[in-house]
Amino acid sequence: MAEPMEVGSRKEKVLTWTEKYRPKTLDDIAHQDEVVTMLKGALQGKDLPHLLFYGPPGTGKTSAALAFCRQLFPKNIFHDRVLDLNASDERGIAVVRQKIRTFSKMSLGAGGAPENVQKLKIIILDEVDAMTREAQAAMRRVIEDYSKYTRFILICNYVSRLIAPVVSRCAKFRFKSLPAEVQVDRLRSICDAEGTPMSDDELHRVMEFAEGDLRRAVCTLQSLSPILKSGDESARACYLRGSSDTKLISEVCKSIPTASTQDIFKLTRVITKSCTGVSFIRHLFQQMIDEDVINDANIAVMGKLVATCEKRILDGCDLENNLLDFLLTLRETFA
Ligand SMILES: Nc1ncnc2c1ncn2[C@@H]1O[C@H](COP(=O)(O)OP(=O)(O)O)[C@@H](O)[C@H]1O
Ligand SMILES: [Mg+2]
Repeated sequence: MAEPMEVGSRKEKVLTWTEKYRPKTLDDIAHQDEVVTMLKGALQGKDLPHLLFYGPPGTGKTSAALAFCRQLFPKNIFHDRVLDLNASDERGIAVVRQKIRTFSKMSLGAGGAPENVQKLKIIILDEVDAMTREAQAAMRRVIEDYSKYTRFILICNYVSRLIAPVVSRCAKFRFKSLPAEVQVDRLRSICDAEGTPMSDDELHRVMEFAEGDLRRAVCTLQSLSPILKSGDESARACYLRGSSDTKLISEVCKSIPTASTQDIFKLTRVITKSCTGVSFIRHLFQQMIDEDVINDANIAVMGKLVATCEKRILDGCDLENNLLDFLLTLRETFA
């Protein structure tokens, strides 16, 4: 029997497409020139500071860190030199004390390594913004104690969640959102490699559905691939219908001011099943403006509501509860 796949782990035997199509070298990283130039300089022997990569999900932060380490260390010493802790690992204070400190302490001989990497070790800590403040403080001490041969690459979405002494010890690089064309090009090359070509229009749909997160778009492609391979045109059309269900939005626009709480409960369930949430809220806002459902005074209130709700959903709060809160507040705004 096939072994179950550990989704989210970089150690899985069955590769997810995110891993399969992860950029292998720095040259494959699109649209992040500043950080790529700095990392290439470090490969040439320039000083390597501790690094902090931040920015929206699916813009190449993890890929850049891994590609750099692969190019820096020959394969035979890679595992001695790189400690890669990602979101699926426990990273409380105990782990900082044990794993990270032990790895940092370990002294290594040159082991035939190139001169610029003779004793260097790198610790990649993905999603540091999810670490507790205590764990971050412990990590800060490790950074201070072992800076001679150990470099940290910290990765997160929001710098504001890191403690200041950690941030101030790193060179910061903000990863930019990837323009639509860059994303579509990448998706197209994956489809071609998998032998399941898609039209430009379909690729744009997948991209919009993922809301700028190329990892999500790549996952969507993977989950779509059996449908594409099956040749079932109606299933394909159904899946690619798009996340912005215009009819549903129109209904919500009209009915929300007078809807009962029960109606809103039901509506929330329908929306949760059929849409991604964030795109629904954005389209609803746009449509309400287009159809003159809200007046100028309400636009500001609604804009704030949209922003708050989007942030919560993107931060991982429950979609259904957020939509419910959003729609109930919206109704009150019009009451
Ligand atoms: N800048 C980029 N250039 C090329 N591919 C990218 C880029 N950003 C994301 N990807 C694609 O998306 C997937 C996830 O990227 P990842 O580096 O894990 O994003 P992040 O760490 O910023 O969330 C990768 O496997 C790759 O296919
Ligand atoms: Mg990442």
